[in-house]
Amino acid sequence: MKILKVSDYAEMSSKAAEFIIGKLQHNPKLNLGLATGGTPVGLYEQLVKNHKQNNTSYRNVTTFNLDEYIGLSGENPNSYRFYMNEQLFNHIDIQKSNTFVPLGDTQNPQQFCVEYEKLLAAHGGVDLQILGIGSNGHIGFNEPYTSFQSETHLVELEASTREANARFFNSLDEVPTHAITMGIASIMRSKEILLLVSGESKRDALVQLLQGDVNENFPASILRTHPCVTIIADKAAIGKI
Ligand code: GLP
Repeated sequence: MKILKVSDYAEMSSKAAEFIIGKLQHNPKLNLGLATGGTPVGLYEQLVKNHKQNNTSYRNVTTFNLDEYIGLSGENPNSYRFYMNEQLFNHIDIQKSNTFVPLGDTQNPQQFCVEYEKLLAAHGGVDLQILGIGSNGHIGFNEPYTSFQSETHLVELEASTREANARFFNSLDEVPTHAITMGIASIMRSKEILLLVSGESKRDALVQLLQGDVNENFPASILRTHPCVTIIADKAAIGKI
């Protein structure tokens, strides 16, 4: 794993944007894996800014999001589909039909998961996956003790994850209890991974990722076995590591 240390959230976001734009210049047909949450908001802002200033094109890019809450349709402002449209897709020249986010309001989540996995395979997989990390080490919505062999699946969210994400909702009660997430094996099939870590609240998770064992009790630890991972972490997250 390569680790790039930056001073703060703003620098993490602009370095991450540069990283992605560099990949797009080499491969305009990039299959880009995307994450949600608070961490990548600044990155998406930078990509939009760059698109407006330099005309970087996403016309031939296909995107796959990691996860979505069960029970929320794409029109719900708390859904990850809504988030992606608002933060990125509505502001760049990507074809909406080439943006894939798991369907939170699907009638048959199990079947949907199988289809999502087939969709990823049919497109030749993800070239570059953007990841954030939960303070319990989750990636996507793969909570501790998720099998490293898991593919896209339905999960019950941990209380700590619902609490951490309650800040985006009116109340904790409104945070869905379940989600669809790409599995650990699905994430590990990405050719390359870019992990963004910012803030003191992620420091313990970063220490465990860099120094702990590779173990299913800390899902992100599997990244140590991936051949091509770059971490961009800010000072607040790195501390004295
Ligand atoms: C959320 C998302 C993850 C995200 C992580 C960290 O629950 N499902 O994809 O990376 O938790 O979120 P944040 O960036 O808001 O700290």
